[in-house]
Amino acid sequence: MDNVKRVIIVGANGTLGTELCKLFIDKRYEVIGLSRSYPISDVTWIHTDLTLEGSIEDSLAYIKRECPKFEHIINCGGVFSLKPISKLDYKEMENLFRVNLMAPMKVVSGLMKLIKKNEADIVNIGSSISYKAVDGHSLYGASKWGLRGYTKHLQLELEKTKSRVIYFSPAGFKSGLFKKAKAKMDMRTYMDAKDLAGLLLSILELPKSMEVSDILINRNCKK
Ligand SMILES: NC(=O)c1ccc[n+]([C@@H]2O[C@H](COP(=O)([O-])OP(=O)(O)OC[C@H]3O[C@@H](n4cnc5c(N)ncnc54)[C@H](OP(=O)(O)O)[C@@H]3O)[C@@H](O)[C@H]2O)c1
Repeated sequence: MDNVKRVIIVGANGTLGTELCKLFIDKRYEVIGLSRSYPISDVTWIHTDLTLEGSIEDSLAYIKRECPKFEHIINCGGVFSLKPISKLDYKEMENLFRVNLMAPMKVVSGLMKLIKKNEADIVNIGSSISYKAVDGHSLYGASKWGLRGYTKHLQLELEKTKSRVIYFSPAGFKSGLFKKAKAKMDMRTYMDAKDLAGLLLSILELPKSMEVSDILINRNCKK
């Protein structure tokens, strides 16, 4: 009998992903981490490029074969873009939509049978941008509005099951996301990924009878 508690973290080597890995390891979970580069030690790493359908399919096949029992899936991969609408580049659009929207959809779709069997929870990491518009954020924002819309449909799909579907939307937190997109942000008032990871864990630790379906975490910039 496989009694190991497992969480699948997509984007496990990212800033928020790493903090989540640490917390779940402390809680004695086996953490299955999908990412392009190696996450922290003690994570069972599955090399995955979220822009490639075949790479995601290989990772899902591994999960189905080696670790089919899991409690939670956290979609935590993401890429950012800061560009005026007149300067959007098609390749960048394609890359960003693959990582931010299509990859979570593909992962959940490919694991749906097991999600239902395991009564597993799904967390999609959205963003506060999916509730508003911000200058220069059209591409990133569109992907997160899309993820929020998809999550609503996922909640409908799983409403008669014990699985919980959580749309977790933080505002800005300190991370490497922006540098990779060559975007200069003033992160002085940004939140800490560690605090957000703690909040998410506490939401997942609530009794199964409670689902925090949508959570928007704004920055408190007051002095
Ligand atoms: N930071 C913020 O202010 C903020 C606010 C709201 C929401 N979010 C969301 O929070 C989540 C985590 O972001 P973060 O801030 O922790 O950023 P991060 O440190 O850049 O993490 C993003 C993760 O996505 C992965 N990723 C990107 N492209 C990939 C690809 N093609 N294949 C595999 N993995 C890929 C990154 O891996 P590589 O290292 O290999 O690129 C990394 O693990 C994202 O969904 C982001 O949109 C962030």
